[in-house]
Amino acid sequence: MRHLISTKDLSKDEILEVFSKAREFLDEKPRTLLKGKSITTIFFENSTRTLSSFETAAKRLDAKVLRLDVSRSSSSKGETLYDTAANLDAMNPNAIVVRHQHSGVPESLARYVNCPVLNGGDGKHAHPTQALLDLFTIYEHFKADVEGKRVLIVGDIKNSRVAASNIELLTRFNLDISLVAPPHFMPNLDIKKTYNIKEAVEHADIIISLRTQTERHQKQIYGSLKDYANDFCINKDLIKDKNLIVLHPGPVHRNIDISDEVLADKRCLVLKQVSNGVAIRMAVLLKLILGEER
Ligand code: NCD
Repeated sequence: MRHLISTKDLSKDEILEVFSKAREFLDEKPRTLLKGKSITTIFFENSTRTLSSFETAAKRLDAKVLRLDVSRSSSSKGETLYDTAANLDAMNPNAIVVRHQHSGVPESLARYVNCPVLNGGDGKHAHPTQALLDLFTIYEHFKADVEGKRVLIVGDIKNSRVAASNIELLTRFNLDISLVAPPHFMPNLDIKKTYNIKEAVEHADIIISLRTQTERHQKQIYGSLKDYANDFCINKDLIKDKNLIVLHPGPVHRNIDISDEVLADKRCLVLKQVSNGVAIRMAVLLKLILGEER
């Protein structure tokens, strides 16, 4: 049984296959490739984009979607995750998409169910479909010429599962990653680091800006988000007329992560990421669900 718990679950060739399928799906036409299949979504943590993106992807392929409303489900009555999973499994879904505030939950769930499990984000651990759609957006923009492109990841890298998945995936595709963040947001990883954003932007082809993950901080680390913004907000002053693109997984803290002006700039591909995300999730659902049947 194949699952998508982290980006490592797919080989480079498989990812390129997913990209070419996703490219077909960019026409946004409804298809019947998953007609008769059912997909369960269980999101224990808030989500705007990822949940609606997975559900749109499933519906565009004609699958049925069962969304488990966690606030009303028996998890809130003390049922363990595994009993909830076993019960869901007994309804025979063809795939389960799960998001959880704790790292490792999707992986454990995968051991209890008889269908592919897709990780919609677990704690600080991983967010594989986000990294896939980020790389796909880069790949499309640079017309597949991505090797050696310089990526600058900016923000609360230490607490971000999006950063963790992007670091794994983009390194594997030979992009050249540098990290820029205040010291308390910098992870302890063997990747190029800098604390001088102005200098770092000079050499960047791609900026991936990240939200400060305040919900994961034990205490307030920065004086205020405004102080953080003074140093790290991606604004026009910083990127000038440079030939680069700006990505962000959302939700964006306006004028803290990225300025209004840059959000409206055509180099900012945030909404493109959202539409690419549906196509990528269609391709991934198809691969995991139909791959099993072959
Ligand atoms: C991210 C997440 O939830 O990990 N958002 C998303 O899925 N698009 C990033 C974030 O919350 O900052």
